[in-house]
Amino acid sequence: MHRVLLISLFSTLVSWVLVNAQFPRVCATVEAIVSKQCCPPLSSDPGDVCGSSSGRGNCTNVRVDEKPWSGPYRLRNVDDRERWPIKFFNRTCRCSGNFAGYNCGECKFGWTGPNCEQRKPPVVRKNIHSLTPVELEQFLDALDRAKNTTHPDFVVATQHWLGMLGPNGTDPQVANISVYNYFVWLHYYSVRDTLLGPGRPFKAIDFSHQGPAFITWHRYHLLQLERDLQKLTGNDSFAIPYWNFATGSNECDVCTDSLLGGSRSDEPDLISPGSRFSNWGIVCNSLDEYNKLVTLCNGTNEGVLRRNPFERTNVSLPTMDDVQSCLSVRDFDSPPYFQNSTFSFRNALEGFDKPDGEFDSSVTNLHNLVHSFLNGTSALSHSAANDPIFVVLHAFTDAIFDEWMKRFAPSNSAWPDELAPIGHNRDYNMVPFFPPVTNEDLFVTSEQLGYSYAVDLPGDASAAAILLGSALGGAFLGLLLLLLLLGLFIKRRPKQGFEPLLKAEFTNKKYTEEA
Ligand SMILES: *[C@@H]1O[C@H](CO)[C@@H](O)[C@H](O)[C@H]1NC(C)=O
Ligand SMILES: *[C@@H]1O[C@H](CO)[C@@H](O)[C@H](O)[C@H]1NC(C)=O
Ligand SMILES: *[C@@H]1O[C@H](CO)[C@@H](O)[C@H](O)[C@H]1NC(C)=O
Ligand SMILES: *[C@@H]1O[C@H](CO)[C@@H](O)[C@H](O)[C@H]1NC(C)=O
Ligand SMILES: *[C@@H]1O[C@H](CO)[C@@H](O)[C@H](O)[C@H]1NC(C)=O
Ligand SMILES: *[C@@H]1O[C@H](CO)[C@@H](O)[C@H](O)[C@H]1NC(C)=O
Ligand SMILES: *[C@@H]1O[C@H](CO)[C@@H](O)[C@H](O)[C@H]1NC(C)=O
Ligand SMILES: *[C@@H]1O[C@H](CO)[C@@H](O)[C@H](O)[C@H]1NC(C)=O
Ligand SMILES: *[C@@H]1O[C@H](CO)[C@@H](O)[C@H](O)[C@H]1NC(C)=O
Ligand SMILES: *[C@@H]1O[C@H](CO)[C@@H](O)[C@H](O)[C@H]1NC(C)=O
Repeated sequence: MHRVLLISLFSTLVSWVLVNAQFPRVCATVEAIVSKQCCPPLSSDPGDVCGSSSGRGNCTNVRVDEKPWSGPYRLRNVDDRERWPIKFFNRTCRCSGNFAGYNCGECKFGWTGPNCEQRKPPVVRKNIHSLTPVELEQFLDALDRAKNTTHPDFVVATQHWLGMLGPNGTDPQVANISVYNYFVWLHYYSVRDTLLGPGRPFKAIDFSHQGPAFITWHRYHLLQLERDLQKLTGNDSFAIPYWNFATGSNECDVCTDSLLGGSRSDEPDLISPGSRFSNWGIVCNSLDEYNKLVTLCNGTNEGVLRRNPFERTNVSLPTMDDVQSCLSVRDFDSPPYFQNSTFSFRNALEGFDKPDGEFDSSVTNLHNLVHSFLNGTSALSHSAANDPIFVVLHAFTDAIFDEWMKRFAPSNSAWPDELAPIGHNRDYNMVPFFPPVTNEDLFVTSEQLGYSYAVDLPGDASAAAILLGSALGGAFLGLLLLLLLLGLFIKRRPKQGFEPLLKAEFTNKKYTEEA
């Protein structure tokens, strides 16, 4: 009786203090983990923490979002991603000016020069179909090298907190990981389930989907990879390309051996041997096993990429009309800031709404539709980033957001500062990026972050009318506008009473499934 109690107490304790994440290799030491301080010196002088000798920054207490959240995750203090990254480190470098990085040794995105005071000319993200043969080769080679090169700065933890320092408390349980697999791991970590105990995952939690952070999280994720690839290639103006998936076609025009891999003729859900990606192993795919063993993805190879856009021939990719429709939704997001938000640009782009923003639980569109269209590895959110198509798919999704950003120039208050699902409030530090960076930090135009898109997205009639209206300031046009807005208002009102029936079962395994 007592033993049972003790065991259950112990396992509760274990699950309560589960602590695992990715951090700079220099902070994966017993001392740093015990003291919860990650403030490495920038130079060989141990006193130069956070580059303080040169005024780059100093070591300060981490700021976390304390505002209430909404959504299905109502537990407290059982998930190590709550109040990120405070369960791991409560003191990190805060860099001054345009300095950035875990030791303030880098510049913020969009800045360059020895003192990070020069604007970096935006790198231009182009359509993958319009790269020159040389640029295409550079991109594919960079991906391949990233897959094979150990990340220079970051490691991932392989054990939870109680086992984090090894059996004797002297041996940090961390692993090296390749630059590309690190990119995969970050995505997995942000969507993984809360581990409540062996085989008891809580699944209705997601720090990077089904809420406003969908936009900023994936934007930062890509920026991070792009910077890693710039370092790897030694090319400061290296840019990832995008895939304009809005073809309305039932074919995948980047699934060819000269681009991201055709399908194998004898086994169509594998990549053709004519493509370098047929050799790519996948990581972080065995979510059920991690949940059963109460452990995390440790970056070991778990098989090969699967993709089968030809499986369901009657499913077609989104169209440019769909893109145009979502670009006319003027609210960035709307309560409950979740996957059932109505007239939310974010929810329309993510793909839970009809492209015009109307909620319909049976709809799969835009971003979600592309993931499920690709089937296989891409359709499962915890492993999707294994497929290099993820990079170009999300670059286009980000290009659509960027267009929206320019069109509506929202103020920061367009982003809810409270009552979004956990991880999605404006000031929440995006999980698991390190050092801490908030959603608000990324809610700016791409130019401010040092990149732009060579893309021409369809115009929007009502936005043009508003521009014209304000330019002329004519009473007639103003009246017309009023009528237009009134029409819109009336059109959306009935929807507020519409309560869609949601599946009670909680899962976040597929992009198309509801939480
Ligand atoms: C940070 O964590 C350390 C180690 O647990 C603790 O001693 C310290 O009081 C914490 N500091 C803050 C500001 O919370
Ligand atoms: C932090 O850094 C700034 C500028 O780099 C400096 O002016 C300030 O005194 C530092 N603060 C502390 C508490 O060291
Ligand atoms: C990466 O490693 C794999 C196997 O380890 C190898 O087949 C492939 O050629 C390597 N790619 C590059 C670009 O070195
Ligand atoms: C832990 O310490 C014991 C006793 O000093 C030693 O025998 C053992 O090898 C150590 N284990 C590890 C993993 O370091
Ligand atoms: C990771 O790789 C670095 C450099 O090769 C090495 O020094 C370090 O011991 C490795 N760390 C782990 C946890 O394997
Ligand atoms: C750097 O990358 C850009 C964009 O990917 C490309 O156009 C340029 O040719 C590259 N420069 C060099 C020196 O390779
Ligand atoms: C890493 O994870 C895999 C799959 O979950 C597991 O089989 C393997 O034992 C782990 N390796 C280490 C060193 O923990
Ligand atoms: C596609 O085909 C399957 C099986 O033939 C069918 O069940 C499904 O309803 C079809 N989907 C659409 C969107 O037409
Ligand atoms: C792939 O498509 C098949 C056929 O439509 C479907 O049954 C399966 O669930 C899909 N796989 C994934 C991972 O979405
Ligand atoms: C959205 O979904 C949540 C969770 O299923 C539910 O509690 C809420 O009532 C729904 N809200 C709307 C407006 O449909």
